[in-house]
Amino acid sequence: MSRFFGDLGPIRFDPQGEGLCFRHYDPDRMVMGKRLEEHLRFAVAYWHSFAWPGGDPFGGQTFDRPWFGDTMDGARMKAEVAFEMFEILGQPFFCFHDADIRPEGATFAESRRNFEEIVDIFASKMETSKTRLLWGTANLFSHRRFMSGAATNPDPDVFAWSAATVKQCMDATHKLGGENYVLWGGREGYETLLNTDMGRELDQMGRFLSMVVDYKHKIGFEGAILIEPKPQEPTKHQYDYDVATVYGHLQRFGLEKEVKLNIEQGHAILAGHSFEHEIALAQALGVFGSIDMNRNDYQSGWDTDQFPNNVPEVALAYYEILKGGGFASGGTNFDAKLRRQSLDPEDLVAAHVGAMDVCARGLIAAADMLEGGELEAARRARYAGWETPEAQAMLTSDLETVAARVEAEGLDPEPRSGRQEILENVVNRYV
Ligand code: GLC
Ligand code: MN
Repeated sequence: MSRFFGDLGPIRFDPQGEGLCFRHYDPDRMVMGKRLEEHLRFAVAYWHSFAWPGGDPFGGQTFDRPWFGDTMDGARMKAEVAFEMFEILGQPFFCFHDADIRPEGATFAESRRNFEEIVDIFASKMETSKTRLLWGTANLFSHRRFMSGAATNPDPDVFAWSAATVKQCMDATHKLGGENYVLWGGREGYETLLNTDMGRELDQMGRFLSMVVDYKHKIGFEGAILIEPKPQEPTKHQYDYDVATVYGHLQRFGLEKEVKLNIEQGHAILAGHSFEHEIALAQALGVFGSIDMNRNDYQSGWDTDQFPNNVPEVALAYYEILKGGGFASGGTNFDAKLRRQSLDPEDLVAAHVGAMDVCARGLIAAADMLEGGELEAARRARYAGWETPEAQAMLTSDLETVAARVEAEGLDPEPRSGRQEILENVVNRYV
């Protein structure tokens, strides 16, 4: 088969190089005692890179890929091209949904057979490729059967269909040695409260998730189960709104020790948060898992899924990740699509090369910031008052006893500067 990407790649690290090369991403560079590749754990998203036709809300397909069309021959060619690009980029991971990799069959069984054939192709390619599976997932949102939800659907048969789909995707993820399994509930929400029984839908969602966790243990899958929050779009309101909301659900279902989060930059922005806020909160709650590193356009206000290109922003996200000890099973997935005018194979490679460089710069800056220590020293100093035995005692005391201190000791707290501008100036030295 002729190569889709012609004579491109493999992409080398060459800071002074011409054309397509990594100028910052040196996989072997040691950062805080670990290779950069092991810190960043990059993944290519199969759906945007190989299955997305280039549509937007106002127009359809712009890409004209030779594997497009709902046939198994197309699906096999797509797998070839995907692994061709993985060789070119040398990134350690990829991610996929069932619907990205196989044509829909006339029945569930036919779709499953189509899916399993391509999973077997992946398995044999992965014997020689260095690319591993960061996570697998099920597409429970594109087909019209999911228009009113998957686990939260008013029709119990859709609940069953969704369970069968997730089971098959978990089996495939396990078979391919995937390090995580992701659930993104694009249609787990509502369009109007007028036809929605929210309490019932939330209960269904909780039951479904518990079944997923039980199944993970049953098959001995050692990866993490991850939920990906998003506030809305496609639905008007999505139940997994943001990190805080998902944590509330997990606690209610008793799953906060079983499930972690896959946090996407674009979704954080849609929820009215910064990316680093969502990461820091997940770290504080002990549920940080993985990231989707794709930004939104700040003006258009919808989910544009663009490759990252803002080093200071990315650096703050990695700062929170490194501060929490870095990725365990998670990684940096580019859930990002080209702009629809970027038609050439080279555009797809260049998008990833650029994104990997931006992330490398961001992570290196974050590590330097952490090792430089100024921010953490300032943070410790700010809370130093809490290190005294009297202050600590208050946290296990009661309201009356604490209140009594104020007059007994003549307390008169002196306000202190939060030093925000000084800290922002420190960050600017690194990025
Ligand atoms: C969809 C979502 C994306 C999510 C992925 C995995 O493609 O748009 O944000 O990460 O599904 O479930
Ligand atoms: Mn995502």
